[in-house]
Amino acid sequence: MDSLTKFIRVHIVLFGFLCFISFHAEAAVKKYQFDIQVKNVSRLCHAKPIVTVNGRFPGPTIYAKEGDRVLVNVTNHAQYNMSIHWHGLKQYRNGWADGPAYITQCPIQTGNSYVYDFNVTGQRGTLWWHAHIFWLRATVYGAIVIMPKQGTPFPFPQPDREEVILLGEWWKADVEEVEKQGNNLGIPPNMSDAHTINGKPGPLFPCSEKHTFAMEVERGKTHLLRIINSALNDDLFFAIANHSMTVVEIDAVYTKQFSTQSLLIAPGQTTNVLVRANQIPGRYFMAARPFMDVPIPVDNKTATAIFQYKGIPNTVIPKLPNLPAPNDSSLALSYQDKLKSLNSAQYPANVPLKVDRNLFYTIGLGRNSCPFCVNGTRLTASLNNISFVMPRVGLLQAHYFDIKGVFKTDFPDKPPTPFNYTGAPLTANLRTARGTRISKIPFNSTVELVLQDTNLLSVESHPFHLHGYNFFVVGMGIGNFNPAKDPAKYNLVDPPERNTVGVPTGGWTAIRFRADNPGVWFFHCHLELHTGWGLKTAFLVEDGPGSNQTVLPPPKDLPPC
Ligand code: C2O
Repeated sequence: MDSLTKFIRVHIVLFGFLCFISFHAEAAVKKYQFDIQVKNVSRLCHAKPIVTVNGRFPGPTIYAKEGDRVLVNVTNHAQYNMSIHWHGLKQYRNGWADGPAYITQCPIQTGNSYVYDFNVTGQRGTLWWHAHIFWLRATVYGAIVIMPKQGTPFPFPQPDREEVILLGEWWKADVEEVEKQGNNLGIPPNMSDAHTINGKPGPLFPCSEKHTFAMEVERGKTHLLRIINSALNDDLFFAIANHSMTVVEIDAVYTKQFSTQSLLIAPGQTTNVLVRANQIPGRYFMAARPFMDVPIPVDNKTATAIFQYKGIPNTVIPKLPNLPAPNDSSLALSYQDKLKSLNSAQYPANVPLKVDRNLFYTIGLGRNSCPFCVNGTRLTASLNNISFVMPRVGLLQAHYFDIKGVFKTDFPDKPPTPFNYTGAPLTANLRTARGTRISKIPFNSTVELVLQDTNLLSVESHPFHLHGYNFFVVGMGIGNFNPAKDPAKYNLVDPPERNTVGVPTGGWTAIRFRADNPGVWFFHCHLELHTGWGLKTAFLVEDGPGSNQTVLPPPKDLPPC
């Protein structure tokens, strides 16, 4: 470097530093230390060691303001190699900080550290973080709260107080053992023993007096609840006795407000609601219970927490809310129908109106022969008949460093043979292929993806999550998607914008997004059971022509494979 360039660089750095100091009120650097450590935790009359962050369950909340830079140093003291995903953060050009193991990084090995370094740009609201390997997210998860920029109010009445509500699942046994056992036998692992609210099952479970979450509320005040479904495998209904909720945001995107008695939230999704404490002061249960509209066994137990008016003694017995029937499909559909983007001048819904690439993916369950399994078969799952095989090197590294033989970019845009997807149950072996096959998308092209549930083994609802992006949910329906008729019914004005969407049981969901974030982005069912069976793939979004449209160089401490 000649001395002039050196001089200029030093001064740019210095100038940048001074900017940083003088505008720190605008954008700050938020630093967190996450120590992954095993801790004994007792629930349901039984203690067991669980993997935690900083010994806390659920883990600590990350607070940031829109525009902040966040640095999380994760140090792994547990016996499992692992990684953490910041679910819903867009990570523009920065897949290195996304976290899914073997997709954007290799796991952080025991005894090692990795700094997740990312900017929070163009997003505000509730997101969350979780372990992204095996079933470790059962206990390794927490909230991310992104406040709007200083001086920018919420586009809804300013709440007096707020609370994070993390919904989860609890197993009495060691979750990693439960998962292993299921895999060895080729059957679904044992279902959870309880649902939890902020890590606690509530007083409907044995030994749970102490393990009940209570939120103190004040009469006449408005409370913002940041609700997150961190359960592994269950769509959940949530309600508060005697209190209606006003939905104002989903997946860190503002919505048109609507009032509801209960809400539906799939694993991976978040929902912000306003609740006014306008009832007779007392104690009211908040409750969560699964939505499951097919005869597939599910942990159907109700988790409860208490919405407790200030000054009311704990001796008052709380009232239970009326939760929807567990199989109420029509309520589930009508609830999703109410979700609309705010689409204001300040928060527009930039829905792609023209589509460059049409994708149609079928969701299938199946059985492969397995001589050592219980039934001689192993359950599997596929998209367009391809069951995804996890690579041994991060796909993003393979892409960035051009390592050959790790993945193929021949994931088909359509299923190999069309059939009556949602007709009579099909058990025929569709000869599911296995492979690390992903789809290559040119930078900035617009994509429409229709996800079609099928009756292979059984129909079921599936929450699909796309990393690195939000998408617009332009349509949803029951039965087979009809390309001739259904697009005419799309909502291209104010469709909900989110990062995780449910494909209804025996139906379809259409999403659109603009592929403007280069990198390799995981796309998968957020039911851990199905992810494990192969219900996943990834999008390789190519670099754009501009120097600020390429994948950033990897950080120096990226975990080795
Ligand atoms: Cu919340 Cu790929 O996950």
